[in-house]
Amino acid sequence: MSILDKHAVIEKNATLLLVSSLLVVTIGGIVEIVPLFYLENTIEKVEGMRPYTPLELAGRNIYIREGCYVCHSQMIRPFRDEVERYGHYSLAAESMYDHPFQWGSKRTGPDLARVGGRYSNEWHVQHLIEPRNVVPESIMPSYSYLKDTELNIAGMDIQGNLKANSIVGVPYSEDMFANAEADLKAQADPNADTTALVARYPKAKIGDFDGDPAKLTEMDALVAYLQMLGTLVDFSTYNDASGYR
Ligand code: HEC
Repeated sequence: MSILDKHAVIEKNATLLLVSSLLVVTIGGIVEIVPLFYLENTIEKVEGMRPYTPLELAGRNIYIREGCYVCHSQMIRPFRDEVERYGHYSLAAESMYDHPFQWGSKRTGPDLARVGGRYSNEWHVQHLIEPRNVVPESIMPSYSYLKDTELNIAGMDIQGNLKANSIVGVPYSEDMFANAEADLKAQADPNADTTALVARYPKAKIGDFDGDPAKLTEMDALVAYLQMLGTLVDFSTYNDASGYR
């Protein structure tokens, strides 16, 4: 019996064809899936990454609520023009604590993945109040109400927010849960003792972000978030295995 004749036998018997196809698909599936269980991690570990501070997380929630991602991406692609404009291309690890991630698919405005530290807090506040005050040709909308809106600490359940993130894998500790609300307030208070806060969240920027020490506003939270974007990984020491600059 030639191989073609053998194949004809399978083709003429529906049950045999079904069972054989299932067998082939099963083997193919196992070959693809099993190795994944032996991979420790698909994301390269990078030094410096830490979960968001409560204030940064609150700012990030405002960023999402206001739809900033509709015009801004947070992913620098490894192309020369992007790297020269924005800085080192984004690493997968840099958005591993983002739920949901903010890579974005549209750039009406510039990429924001490394905007942290590029401008002063005052610049951000002026820009968000009225973008045309600092960039005359800007088409970005005004978000002036953020400076007048006090952060709704009682209503936002920041501790629950941290816990929800930890369920999906962000390594928040018991210590971080317990101090969530205190940390949130302390980060925007230049007079607070922030030693423990910075120990929990290295490189956290402390300050009265919105320029109004009397109030903790949504502007404080949003600017705290913008000012840390892209600042956690130190690229002067990062060993770039791809050799791409
Ligand atoms: C309708 C589109 C649009 C939306 C929505 C938008 N922006 Fe912008 N954004 C722009 C444009 C265009 C620019 C460039 C001109 C300028 O600097 O104002 C810009 C610039 C910026 C810059 C300066 C970036 C740089 O590197 O110079 C920051 C920071 C920024 N936006 C933050 C935000 C935040 C935060 C939000 C949400 C609260 C937001 N934007 C919403 C369009 C938008």
